[in-house]
Amino acid sequence: MSASNRLAGDRPVPDLVTELPGPKARAHVAYDETWTSPSLPRAYPIVPVRGDGLTLEDIDGNLFLDFAAGIAVNSTGHAHPAVVAAIKEQAGELLHFSASDFYLPIYAETCQRIAEITPVAGGRARAYLGNSGTEVVETAIKLARFATKRPYVVAFLGAFHGRSYGSVSLTASKSKYHAGFGPLLPGVYHAPYGRVEDLRWFDEVLFDKLVPAAEVAAIVVEPIQGEGGYIVPEDGFLHGLRAICDQHGILLVADEIQSGAGRTGTMWAIEGWGVKPDILLTAKGIASGLPLAALVARADLLEAWGPGAHGSTYGGNPVACAAALATIDLLQGGLVENARVRGEQAQAGLAPLGGRFPGFVRDVRGRGLMIGIEFDTAEHAEEVQWAAFQRGLLVLECGKSSVRLSPALTVSEAEMATALRIFGEAVAEVAGEPADRPILHAAEAAHAMTGVEAAG
Ligand SMILES: Cc1ncc(COP(=O)(O)O)c(C=O)c1O
Repeated sequence: MSASNRLAGDRPVPDLVTELPGPKARAHVAYDETWTSPSLPRAYPIVPVRGDGLTLEDIDGNLFLDFAAGIAVNSTGHAHPAVVAAIKEQAGELLHFSASDFYLPIYAETCQRIAEITPVAGGRARAYLGNSGTEVVETAIKLARFATKRPYVVAFLGAFHGRSYGSVSLTASKSKYHAGFGPLLPGVYHAPYGRVEDLRWFDEVLFDKLVPAAEVAAIVVEPIQGEGGYIVPEDGFLHGLRAICDQHGILLVADEIQSGAGRTGTMWAIEGWGVKPDILLTAKGIASGLPLAALVARADLLEAWGPGAHGSTYGGNPVACAAALATIDLLQGGLVENARVRGEQAQAGLAPLGGRFPGFVRDVRGRGLMIGIEFDTAEHAEEVQWAAFQRGLLVLECGKSSVRLSPALTVSEAEMATALRIFGEAVAEVAGEPADRPILHAAEAAHAMTGVEAAG
């Protein structure tokens, strides 16, 4: 039985039993908005209480098909039995013992496992563990400056790297992330992203007019931009960055916090182009939802700084490490491959949308299960997100006018087919087309009859 069937029982997924949001969800939203920080950018009023695989149950008993996965975090689905068992076992053994100050076996084992699955330039790698994406971005900035003795850092327009001061200074996806918080970290420049011809900016603008290449410590890049709109760079772009870094002794930092941990059909998105970074950052999917992040770097870089240079009380907490080890086992045991195959299914199913809604659907792109659909306006992207929610499918906006699909890597063929059908209906509704021309129904029926189970 697939993981989702244990929660859903005989019910189909999705299965909506109230209007949305339901009465309990509405009451909860009012309660939440009394007590929580209004800075939280809630997308729509889903109030989940339990999950299993790709099935999410809300406070009113509605069942949703989750193609948002907690912003690309629940890589192994909700409550994967192997991850839950590892967490429970570790929680009963040792909850915390700061690895910054003492020797914690599972911390070193997690560093080894993550370093072994991460190709970095120059071969030998070591790792540092934190709790969240933004923390390891901060770590990368500190390490790059320390190891190179250079002050400047380059990030990209459209990038998202987090919201603490260093990382938010690299972030350039929306000006609201900077509004009211300046001055930000000095010494940060933003390059245009994605096209091979954009690489000329380095020689013609940055190194010629702003700062010498010999003073640039690092170029920090998302191999596929996440929050910026699931933007896939042109072939040759990441190779070009590697060449610029090699020429000038600059460190290439790959932020794989959203694109990594198998999501794109390879363990790391950058592997899709055969490029090796000097430093790679992971978080989100690497521990299936427990707070764990890692910086993996060329060993000689980490060996440049000594005791006290960096650390964290909770980073590499034993329970989070146990979840990461179980997650990596599952990724290597078939989920990375499933992401690739299900990604192909998604691209094949979504490709006709452009032809069916010309001008309205502007682009369908992505790698593996990092899938972006771009619409003509931000309003239409938001309306499609809402129309999908109203049908029980959870998706999430990104970029200016795109919607992302980022399901768990355990997604089955039938679940993907259902999501594609519902998404197509949501698009048709917002585009103003009568809903009596469902797309992909036949494909879904065919997939459902094969009785394919969720992988992993
Ligand atoms: C590429 C990327 N980097 C960094 C971050 C920040 O991670 P966190 O929210 O865990 O601090 C995110 C979060 O969305 C991200 O997508």
